[in-house]
Amino acid sequence: MSLFASVEMAPDDPILGLVETFLADPRPDKVNLSIGVYHDEQGRIPLLETVREVELHLAQAAAARGYLPIDGLPAYNRLTQELLFGGRTDILAAGRVATAQTIGGSAALRVGADVLRQALGGHAKVALSNPSWGNHAVVFRAAGFTVDQYRYFDPASHGLNFAGMLEDLGRMERGSVVLLHACCHNPTGVDLDTAQWQQVIAVLDERGLLPFVDMAYQGFDQGLEPDARAVRLLADSPIPAFVVCNSYSKSFSLYGERVGALSVVGADREEATRLLSRIKQTIRSIYSSPATHGGALVAGVLGSAELRARWEAELGDMRSRIHAMRAGLVERLAARGAPQYAFINRQAGMFSYSGLSKAQVHRLRDEFAIYAVDNGRICLAALSRDKLDAVADAIAAVSA
Ligand code: LMR
Repeated sequence: MSLFASVEMAPDDPILGLVETFLADPRPDKVNLSIGVYHDEQGRIPLLETVREVELHLAQAAAARGYLPIDGLPAYNRLTQELLFGGRTDILAAGRVATAQTIGGSAALRVGADVLRQALGGHAKVALSNPSWGNHAVVFRAAGFTVDQYRYFDPASHGLNFAGMLEDLGRMERGSVVLLHACCHNPTGVDLDTAQWQQVIAVLDERGLLPFVDMAYQGFDQGLEPDARAVRLLADSPIPAFVVCNSYSKSFSLYGERVGALSVVGADREEATRLLSRIKQTIRSIYSSPATHGGALVAGVLGSAELRARWEAELGDMRSRIHAMRAGLVERLAARGAPQYAFINRQAGMFSYSGLSKAQVHRLRDEFAIYAVDNGRICLAALSRDKLDAVADAIAAVSA
């Protein structure tokens, strides 16, 4: 009898599991709007020109690859801090930020959660927006957190339930962690404006809550600077400590390279030094140190003023194309007698929380070979002009 005989089958991942089903689907006109991956007009995941140039340069100057330091490439970490905190150089000059390159944004979340779990001891509690990216709860539970929720999405307006959010945050236990999406909220596409961020930050400060920001889509709503507004406002606030996880998967179209970073802000340099030692200890216990190639690509682009400017333009092109897909879908749905989807134009980033029910999502998949997440999330960044009519036909049909 095998010692593994009692191991039960784990459920499929709600997002990555769907990709497997999609790939196995033999229908030629299938469309995958489930996973958050940007595709271009030709339906391909783009290789950015700036990334290609750095890659060619790296190949020409091919070098042996030793281990990176536990916390990754120093230039990558420095450039990441500049991208996150922009002009708020005081927080950087004061040495308050401990940054480590991580295996994608997911490892940033997990390492950050593990470090906080240790720091907070027995009563580690995190509140997630309702809804949030499905993996947030999985990661925090695996790190030993109790997972709670705060109200966020308002199904009636397809927008923000701001009063509910403030009320729930105002009731949270002192010392709790609050996970916040910096921009392009996943899965809803509903974000806070500057005034709302200011109010939320005031409540977090007053209640002694610890902000834990997930920024996976910087540059996909309005641009690198405006999309980082939550991080900048936190840096300017009296809140002494917070966490920022960021990912370059989407903004550099480097999904498979797993490029992310964890930045933990402490009250002063000495606190940040202690935090970095804990981050490194945690990374060493999971994967020792990050991978070399993706980090070198990102640092190569961000470290050159010329390449960085061109990358911003490439990012701007991706952003504009997503906006055009939103507008194109809304227009076609209205023309098919489904004007109720106008809210898709107000949502930001890659996703729309479409309001489609699980039954409607299953009809889209079964009858039309269009894949969306069961919670109704669709990825506009996976659309292209040639698919808009078919997708609008299908959504209108299941909405009738
Ligand atoms: C998504 O939400 O689709 C992406 O962040 C990919 C993932 O890992 O779930």
